[in-house]
Amino acid sequence: MDWGLKNRIANILKPNNGRGVMLAVDHGYFLGPTESLEVPRRTVAPLVKYCDSLMVTRGVVRTSVDPNHPVPIVLRVSGGTSIIGEDLSNEKITTSVKDAIRINATALAMSIFVGAKYEHNSLVNLGNLVNDAEEYGIPVLAVTAVGKELEKRDARYLSLSCRIAAEFGAHMVKTYFCDNFEKVVNSCPVPVIIAGGPKLPERDALALTYNAIKAGAAGVDMGRNIWQSQYPIPMIRAVRAIVHSNYNLDQAYNLFKTLCKEYPLKNNQKPHLGNNTQNKNRPDQSKAPQQSQKTQQQQPQQPSQSKPQQPRPQQQPRPQQSKPQQPRPQQPKTQMKKQTPPAPPAAQATQ
Ligand code: R5P
Repeated sequence: MDWGLKNRIANILKPNNGRGVMLAVDHGYFLGPTESLEVPRRTVAPLVKYCDSLMVTRGVVRTSVDPNHPVPIVLRVSGGTSIIGEDLSNEKITTSVKDAIRINATALAMSIFVGAKYEHNSLVNLGNLVNDAEEYGIPVLAVTAVGKELEKRDARYLSLSCRIAAEFGAHMVKTYFCDNFEKVVNSCPVPVIIAGGPKLPERDALALTYNAIKAGAAGVDMGRNIWQSQYPIPMIRAVRAIVHSNYNLDQAYNLFKTLCKEYPLKNNQKPHLGNNTQNKNRPDQSKAPQQSQKTQQQQPQQPSQSKPQQPRPQQQPRPQQSKPQQPRPQQPKTQMKKQTPPAPPAAQATQ
């Protein structure tokens, strides 16, 4: 793999563990001013230091993201439809590679719509985008979009979509979590990250994250479940703890609750943490790996002790943690498996 391509991917999926936290704020490209993203700058500014990369359109980058903050940009370059239009699958490439380079994008993102009316166009668009982007060593993230048909999100459909995306040359794929997610990951030869989807109770969103990582996901590209939370910073930090610090669900949720005490409520909303029950429709609500009672007590409930274990904002790859707090989730796939050197020993530990 070309050095530039590899280096850009390493800015998105950290080389120490092959994982990343991508904050998705590109929703306006077809949803307009969706809830909690009405003023993108206000949504992005407090969160940006907690993500590894930011998925965004060129319009929001230029107007609402501080160019002095060196966050890797995953630039959405497809679009052309809206939520009130006829067919969401009729997307084209709307931003040139030249403009992406001007923006200093680290990667490009576009949607494919497998099985939809405009499947053919979206797949050919993906092939052409990979051709163009590789000329400049820029990786492409394919988004396996389902439009309004959320019920499509099962392992059979998503593994079909992810595999096709990889076959067309996508360097990373974003998809949805589902039952039997291992099938999706195992049949896709490039890293798979998950979208969060519509807003869930926080514990459910963390369960989604945990289960995806456990099943081999390389991270998240999450939006609404972070910035539509009443506590966006605690939420992204808890997600980050799962992705980068191998927190299990209980640890991450405890961290979330602890951090909620430190951060003000968004927009003077009323808290409702007590009603945050798990969503029984979600698959495998996580039997967290066993930990000792002592370790559990030392986890995030005690701010003074938990601080060093909490994920810190980072823009550079961090060294592998030498003392994981729990058995590690399944080893994530490394980038471009056959071309990437083996992960460091600590990252190879599996459950
Ligand atoms: C949707 O098409 C956008 O690309 C979003 O980036 C994606 O859905 C991830 O955001 P969320 O976690 O809110 O689903």
